[in-house]
Amino acid sequence: MYFSEDKVSEIIEKNDIVELISQYLNLTKKGKNHWGLCPFHTEKTPSFSVSLEKQLFYCFGCSVGGNVITFVQKIERLSYVEALYFLAKRAGIPIDERIDKNELEKIKAKEELYKINTEAAKFFYENIKKNANAMEYLSGRGLEQNIAKKFGIGYSIDSWDKLNRFLKSKGYSDDLIERTGLIVKKDKGYYDRFRNRIMFPIIDLKGNVIAFGGRVLDESKPKYLNSPETMIYSKSNSIYALNIVKEIRGLKNIIVVEGYMDVISLYQFGIKNVVASLGTAFTKQQARLLKRYANEIIIAYDSDVAGQSATLKGLSILQKEGCIVKVLTLPIGMDPDDFIRSKGVSAFNDLLNRSYSLIEYKIHNAKKNFDLSILDDRVKFSKKLAVILSKLESPIEIDVYIKKFTKELRINEEAIYAEVKKNKRKHISGNNRHNIISRLKKDENDLSGQIIAEKKILNICALYKDKSEYVFKRIKPDSFSKGLHEKIANIINLKIKEGKMISAGEILIHLEDEKEKEKASQVFNIDISKKDIELLDIYIDKIYQFSIGNKIEELTIAMNECFEREEKEKANKIFMEIMDLQKKKK
Ligand code: CTP
Ligand code: MN
Repeated sequence: MYFSEDKVSEIIEKNDIVELISQYLNLTKKGKNHWGLCPFHTEKTPSFSVSLEKQLFYCFGCSVGGNVITFVQKIERLSYVEALYFLAKRAGIPIDERIDKNELEKIKAKEELYKINTEAAKFFYENIKKNANAMEYLSGRGLEQNIAKKFGIGYSIDSWDKLNRFLKSKGYSDDLIERTGLIVKKDKGYYDRFRNRIMFPIIDLKGNVIAFGGRVLDESKPKYLNSPETMIYSKSNSIYALNIVKEIRGLKNIIVVEGYMDVISLYQFGIKNVVASLGTAFTKQQARLLKRYANEIIIAYDSDVAGQSATLKGLSILQKEGCIVKVLTLPIGMDPDDFIRSKGVSAFNDLLNRSYSLIEYKIHNAKKNFDLSILDDRVKFSKKLAVILSKLESPIEIDVYIKKFTKELRINEEAIYAEVKKNKRKHISGNNRHNIISRLKKDENDLSGQIIAEKKILNICALYKDKSEYVFKRIKPDSFSKGLHEKIANIINLKIKEGKMISAGEILIHLEDEKEKEKASQVFNIDISKKDIELLDIYIDKIYQFSIGNKIEELTIAMNECFEREEKEKANKIFMEIMDLQKKKK
C-alpha cells in the first residue's frame, strides 16, 4: 500500500500527539511541554516530554523521540505502514484501497498459497504420529510431545506423490501447489519436494505458514531441505519463531541462533526468547524486524569458523540498525542445542550472563591466536589490541580495556595508550582529510555556536510561518552545515515555496531512516523563547558568515589546485571570487 505525502500529513494533523500519548500514559503540563514517565525505559521521575506545538515527543532519559507515527510504531510494535493504517483508522480518515487488477489477483493467489501450506502442515503433523521412525527420531533427540506440537513439527511420508494427491483432493491445482514449492515439476509430472523428512513449518508474524524446512532422519545429505523463494516466502525477510517470541510480555532481549533445533531445544528448557536466522547470512531486513521487538540482541551462533564470521557480520548489521548486540560464545564444536542438553540450563544462563559486547568479542577472537606466555606474542597482541581499541570513540571505554589487559600482558599502560593514539591518527589521515582539516582550522566555540544558531533557526521555522519565509529569503538551505541540518532546511524551504507551513513532527515524514528521524527529534528538543526570536537576525548572520567562510575555504583549495596545474587564468578568476567574498565577511 502506498501512502501519498498529503495523506501522511493529513494523518499526522488529525492525530494530535498529546491526545494520543495521553491514552497510553499520564501526562502533566509543565511549562510548554507535557511530561510523563517514559514507556520505553524504566524511570521514577518523568523525563518524557511531549510538545503540542511541535507535535513531537522526546525522552531526555533515553533519547528516544519522534512524531505520532514513531510513537505508535514503538508502542504498538508496528511497521511504518501499519502505524499509518492504525492512525488513519483512529482519526476516521478513509484510505483509498483501490488497487489494480494484478495486485488483487496477487493477493488472492497469496491467500490460496497460505491455505495450501496450512493444509500441508496439518498433513505432516498427522503423519508423524503414524510413523514410528519419525517418532523415534524426535524422542531420540529428547524432544517432548507438547513442544513438538507447539512448533508444529511433522513428517513427510517417503513417497513421490502422497502430499500432492492429498492437496489435490482438497481442490487445489498442480499449478497452484507448485507455487508453494511443495511439489516440483519434472518431465513425467509433479513429485513431492519433501520426502521422509522431519518437517518444521516457518510461520510469519500474522500466523501464516509461509515455508518449510525438512530434516533427514539419518546422516544422509542434504541434512536440511528448505522451501524455495516463493510469492509468500523470502528467506532474507523471515525469522524462524519470531511469531512465538513476539507474544512474550516484557521481552528484554532476543537470542539469535542458527537452526530450528536450537530454538526448539532452548524453548523446551524454558529459554523462550529465541529465534533462528536459518542459515548463516543475517540480513538488514531481519535486523529491522528484530528491532521492532527488542533492542538488545544476543547472537549465539555455532563456534565453528563459518559461525564466527557470520557472528561478526550479524553484529555489524544489527549495530548499524541501532541494536545493542552481544555475543554468547559456545565451546568449540557445540551448538546451543548440544550445549543445553549436555550442560543444562544454569550453565547456559552463565554463558548468557557472560556474553561479550562487540569490542570484547573482537578482542577475544584476536587473543585466541596468541600465546600470552611468550613475550613476542604479547607484543603482537598488544598491537592488535591497540588497533581494535582505536576504533572506540570514548576515552573512558578505551581506558577500561587497557587497564583490564595490562596486567595480563605485562606491558606498560602508557605504551598501549601511545599505540592507540598512533592508530587513531592513521585512521583520521585516511578518511575525509579535507573535512578534518577545515574543521581543525575553525575555532571550536565558533563551530558549536554555529550548530546552536542552526538549531534555533530550524526550530523557529517549524513554529512560525512568517519567520520561516523571512529566513529563507536571506539564506539558502545549503548555508546550513552538511547533512541533517541542510536536509531539514531543504524540507522547510520547499514547503515555504508552496506557501505552506510544516511542523517539526511533519518534517520527520520526509526523512528516510530511523536513525535520522531520531537525530531530527533531537534537533527539535530545545525550547524557543521570545529572546530567541529577537535574536533571529543574529543567528542568520552567524550562519551566513559561516557559509562564507566555508565557501572561501573551498575556493582556496580549488585555486591552489589550479596553480599546481598551471591553469593561471582559472586561478585568477577564483582569486577574484575569493576577494569578493572577503569583503562580505566581517
Ligand atoms: N541449514 C540448511 N541447509 C543445510 C544445512 C543447514 O538450511 N544443508 C540451516 C538449517 O536452518 C539449520 C541451520 O542451517 O537448522 C544450522 O545448520 P547446522 O548447524 O548444520 O544444523 P543444526 O541446526 O545443528 O541441525 P541438527 O541439530 O538438526 O543437526
Ligand atoms: Mn544441532
